[in-house]
Amino acid sequence: MPAIVIVGAQWGDEGKGKATDLLGSRIDYVVKFNGGNNAGHTVVIGDEKYALHLLPSGILTDGVVPVIANGVVIDIEVLFHELAALTARGVDVSKLVVSANAHVITQYHRTLDKVTERFLGKRQIGTTGRGIGPSYADKINRVGIRIQDLFDENILRQKVEGALHQKNQLLVKLYNRRAISVDEIVADLLSYTERLRPLVADTGLLLNQALDAGKTVLFEGGQATMLDVDHGTYPFVTSSSSTAGGASTGSGIGPGRIERVIGIVKAYTTRVGSGPFPTELLDESGEYLRAKGFEFGTTTGRPRRTGWYDAPVARYSARVNGVTDFVMTKLDVLSGLEKIPVCVAYEVDGVRVEEVPVSQSDFHHAVPIYEEFPGWQEDISAARSFDDLPRNAQDYVLAIEAISGCRISAIGVGPERDAIVVRHDLLN
Ligand code: GDP
Ligand code: IMO
Ligand code: MG
Repeated sequence: MPAIVIVGAQWGDEGKGKATDLLGSRIDYVVKFNGGNNAGHTVVIGDEKYALHLLPSGILTDGVVPVIANGVVIDIEVLFHELAALTARGVDVSKLVVSANAHVITQYHRTLDKVTERFLGKRQIGTTGRGIGPSYADKINRVGIRIQDLFDENILRQKVEGALHQKNQLLVKLYNRRAISVDEIVADLLSYTERLRPLVADTGLLLNQALDAGKTVLFEGGQATMLDVDHGTYPFVTSSSSTAGGASTGSGIGPGRIERVIGIVKAYTTRVGSGPFPTELLDESGEYLRAKGFEFGTTTGRPRRTGWYDAPVARYSARVNGVTDFVMTKLDVLSGLEKIPVCVAYEVDGVRVEEVPVSQSDFHHAVPIYEEFPGWQEDISAARSFDDLPRNAQDYVLAIEAISGCRISAIGVGPERDAIVVRHDLLN
């Protein structure tokens, strides 16, 4: 069986856990390959609601082996906090495996994240403040601390000294903050060593062996295509590779092993933080989507920006990720609207443009060209087959499918795990 990748196809919070749930019992391993506790996944199982950040949402599926791979940045305190919270609710987390090569997020990353955002003023990214960018910056600058460094106190101390040497100058002289002590950071990190030891492994080797043995491995992307550091709306992005290619570099499996790429799209669009968003609605329609879709960030509680479905963004995501199936979530949120506009192209400086413009400033002032589809009034949350959906809802899905660059294989009709209509098997 194959390696399967799930990625967000918009700006995050598409409901990526829906596809994980759908594959459920057919998965042996679920792998987080990028990002950290900037992610926020809300998963509803029966009467229970779980909010996960650092752990992949697949950890809630019985019997799977959850893996945090090398591409992730780990705030160790958050890791143990989430594990304890799940254990207290009866979730078995004992199989979790953590990469020795994953980088850590420490206090100085969180401090720098917040302080640099403040200094950006109007140009701020609107980060989650979790230290994600500074930790990845250290990784690229080759002054990062990896999980394996926690098992050698001398090396750890040298590395923390190296990292803080420059940062303390910045914190004190530029940002007017207190210096951070090497001893404090080293002691904090070492306090987790013994608890971490049994979880840590060569996850690249483990995953390749699992695939060789015919196991099914699901790579669960955090964030989304338009937040990818290379392919997103830079600089208004996160600092990792959240597109399908990131599953390979972020885990140590060859790209040829990936057989399915499942892109998750909402039936409309949301975004948290700053940056271009052509279909954004600043009127009561936007407020309607936010209230009906309960669009508030799982991680920071911020209200999400809302807008209509953007087909060029979906086509772009289909292309960048090599999407084989889309799963569309939250179709139920659109019930009750008279008309539903869909962005089919943009107008840039008076010219019709079919694709996401490569120039960031063009994208900033791209004006959506809408086509309107008739809405439906029925509650669709009990639908379990495509035929159960009202004709106008079916037509909306089919119209979007025709312009989004890939088939829509499943449709979410409610927050619950089983509130989904399946049209095509995601693995065939
Ligand atoms: P993620 O970041 O992609 O994992 O998504 P989030 O968990 O941040 O946001 C998605 C939200 O939509 C969650 O609160 C889900 O419970 C909810 N959700 C997922 N699918 C559906 C759906 O089909 N309909 C509705 N109404 N809610 C959904
Ligand atoms: P999930 O996995 C939505 C956004 C932040 C900010 C930008 C950079 O739940 O879809 P960062 O803290 O990563 O440096 O912030 O990226 N962002 C997300 N937006 N969903 C997420 O994750 C996000 N993770 C980061 O709001 O604009
Ligand atoms: Mg989220």
